[in-house]
Amino acid sequence: MTTDLRTFINGLPKAELHLHLEGSLEPELMFALAARNAVELPYASVEDLKAAYSFNNLQEFLDLYYAGASVLITEQDFYDLTIAYLEKVAAEAVTHVEVFFDPQTHTERGIPFKIVVNGIVRALEEGKSRLGITSFLILSFLRHLSEEAAFATLEEARPFKKHFAGIGLDSSEVGNPPSKFERVFAKARAEGYPVVAHAGEEGPAEYIYEALDLLKVCRIDHGNRCLEDDALVDRLVKEQMPLTLCPLSNLELCVIDDMKNHPAKQMLERGLLITLNSDDPAYFGGYMTDNFMATAEALDLSRAEIVQLAKNSFLSSWLSIEEKKAMLRKVDAYVAETP
Ligand code: ADE
Ligand code: ZN
Repeated sequence: MTTDLRTFINGLPKAELHLHLEGSLEPELMFALAARNAVELPYASVEDLKAAYSFNNLQEFLDLYYAGASVLITEQDFYDLTIAYLEKVAAEAVTHVEVFFDPQTHTERGIPFKIVVNGIVRALEEGKSRLGITSFLILSFLRHLSEEAAFATLEEARPFKKHFAGIGLDSSEVGNPPSKFERVFAKARAEGYPVVAHAGEEGPAEYIYEALDLLKVCRIDHGNRCLEDDALVDRLVKEQMPLTLCPLSNLELCVIDDMKNHPAKQMLERGLLITLNSDDPAYFGGYMTDNFMATAEALDLSRAEIVQLAKNSFLSSWLSIEEKKAMLRKVDAYVAETP
């Protein structure tokens, strides 16, 4: 008897490399935190809030996402948010995560930087000791804010540097090209941070070139629109530059019109190093297993292709070579023992 696809995917060891902690704030927790902190939400109920989750583009989502984050006030709130995410993915054989947080979303509202970081880090440490999930935390700049604000955030991060594995760039893409952050990324790299950036989600292929050439990223978040430029695809293949794709996010934000038109399979066939991730699972209808399932079913992926995607998640991570090899062996062992 062969294991059904969902069970196979759920048990397959994998890493998540594109996850915004604020995007894992489930409606139920949002309401509980609103009550705990006496924050008023413009929704009467959880159902009412869920009904508002219908987006035509990235900005419509971001408006809700930043409003939702306003319930996060205390260190305990950031801990509760982060541990809830880790518990969810622990049940999906996710063994390693590299997660984003957006400090400016909170410091702009007067929440001290250290409250945010301490709450998240406490949960990540517990994730390691209790759930066996290793993690890296990526500090992401909001690209709709100024270069000056990003420099100030990099400065604020200094006392907490040991907690940050890298620097990212997210929020409203179109009109906020990577070039806007060339100097602050140069400073971050000079301080020793590896860097990544969202590029080519809604923005053009040109933004992917800028992320590579000006920001000198070691991974592209999304990158869907590279397919509009053959020379760019060839380069990404040659450099084996990882792309962190987010299929359910793409569907919910109308980056694609149907899961059947998701570029994941075409990208695999062209030799791109792609990974599947959930982006903002509380808003887009699913965590890792759901993203793998939706993609595998819509694109009729073979088990070998699904296994390759799981391996790619470790190969694209910031784990050491030895840790990567150990995880690839775990994937192979799982496949060997799962009919
Ligand atoms: N912040 C949270 N999710 C995002 C996404 N998909 N694109 C850009 N910024 C984001
Ligand atoms: Zn994202």
